[in-house]
Amino acid sequence: MEFVDTHAHLDMLEGYTEYYIAQAAENNVNKIIIPGIEPDSFGTIAEIATRFKNVFFELGVFPSEAAKWTDECNELITEFAKHPKCIGIGEIGLDYHWDKSFIDKQKEVFIKQIKLANSLKLPITVHDRDAHDDTLEIIDKYNNSSDIVFHCFSGDLEFMKKIIERGYYLAIGGVVTFKKADTLKEVAQKVPLDKLLLETDSPYLAPAPFRGKENQPAYIKYTAEEIARLRNITVSEVAEATTANAEKVFKI
Ligand code: NI
Repeated sequence: MEFVDTHAHLDMLEGYTEYYIAQAAENNVNKIIIPGIEPDSFGTIAEIATRFKNVFFELGVFPSEAAKWTDECNELITEFAKHPKCIGIGEIGLDYHWDKSFIDKQKEVFIKQIKLANSLKLPITVHDRDAHDDTLEIIDKYNNSSDIVFHCFSGDLEFMKKIIERGYYLAIGGVVTFKKADTLKEVAQKVPLDKLLLETDSPYLAPAPFRGKENQPAYIKYTAEEIARLRNITVSEVAEATTANAEKVFKI
């Protein structure tokens, strides 16, 4: 049995990266993808991916960091994307949860990065928080060719259907283990298994036994166990399907 953690901010964890990679390996997490957040951290995540055989990374400017987007970012991302472990553009999208004062800038930066992903022939990891309709509208309008993964999926069944009918993927993390996450549990139960990915979003959103504490890739098993329980299948089946999907989308 093996897992892929499709979304872990290894660069933001407190301890030594070696420790988290070893813990992950002990818990069958054999591949880890670090998402990009802002230009200043591209060097750090590329360096981590260079050091560890099974770590890959994505490049992207996160919606809350949209103000950091400059014209040079296009070139910077294109240059970093030549790294053999760079496997996607992310996490990019829209976040209306904290601050709605610069929605237009968020949209502009999102659109630019979708176009860039298309030209670089890379899949896109989407961050969508309280912005389902606008996110989908922009993707429909501007994405021509990239595979799309909705990371930390937070929509309902109806939104899930819209994602699935377009051929996109969704990633589920520790939130599904929370007692009151009824909507997400329903999605985890109904989503076609060939469209589901697993993630931790470490160091955030640790699953139920560690809720509120620092999350790490090794904890992905708690999410897999909950999804297996909800679907009445084995954890191995969850691992097998989600690993195959991750390997296919990100070509890892
Ligand atoms: Ni993230």
